[in-house]
Amino acid sequence: MKGERTMRILISGATGGLGRALARALKGHQLLLSGRRMGELQALAEEVAGKALPANLTDELEAKALCEEAGELDLLFHAVGSAARAPVREVEREAVERLLGDHFLSALFLLKHARFRPGARAVFFGAYPRYVQVSGFAAYAAAKGALEWYLEAARKEFRKEGVHLVLVRLPAVATGLWAPLGGPPRGALPPEEAVRLVLEGVLGERPPEILEVQP
Ligand SMILES: NC(=O)c1ccc[n+]([C@@H]2O[C@H](COP(=O)([O-])OP(=O)(O)OC[C@H]3O[C@@H](n4cnc5c(N)ncnc54)[C@H](OP(=O)(O)O)[C@@H]3O)[C@@H](O)[C@H]2O)c1
Repeated sequence: MKGERTMRILISGATGGLGRALARALKGHQLLLSGRRMGELQALAEEVAGKALPANLTDELEAKALCEEAGELDLLFHAVGSAARAPVREVEREAVERLLGDHFLSALFLLKHARFRPGARAVFFGAYPRYVQVSGFAAYAAAKGALEWYLEAARKEFRKEGVHLVLVRLPAVATGLWAPLGGPPRGALPPEEAVRLVLEGVLGERPPEILEVQP
């Protein structure tokens, strides 16, 4: 898959830190870029000669319309998510629903409606359990756990279509995801470096089911 031909690639979460770095690294391919902030999305689309397709992916109709516009894909990068600290004794339903929606339902709707070419790869961003199964992050960990287990079952269905699902486990990456938590931790990877390691793992001849990115 590496480097030979122009691929049709959908990047959801393209307005985020990882999504934007992915778009820049994949410039030259047919890029379909999705996010919610239209101004940011449009600017990125102009920069990388991609197409801006705004969508709120917790809304199934918007996810479906995005997939219809995107057409048949060689690659999907689902770089969507949000973060919030929510101690178990204080957690509010709204925060849990937002985390589950942004991490899990968004992926579920894309997998339901996306169309893939044979040999395509769909890439999702999970987390190392030891980094997220910690105090204050039970709801975030649950959202990532739901995503990971869903993908484990879904990959068996997609294998029949010749589509590979890849779950990437990332260490901390310095993006806007950390803004509500007071900023990224010391030693967080620059998004460009994280993306270099992700692409190296995902675009190889035999993509892994789980790609563990180590700095
Ligand atoms: N950064 C890290 O340390 C780290 C570590 C492990 C895993 N990850 C995972 O990597 C993925 C990307 O994270 P990031 O660090 O790039 O985060 P980010 O900079 O905060 O970007 C998040 C992206 O998700 C989009 N988004 C959120 N909710 C959405 C929704 N309902 N519908 C459509 N788009 C939505 C945002 O769009 P708008 O801004 O346009 O609303 C934005 O483009 C996430 O799944 C995250 O959990 C990140």
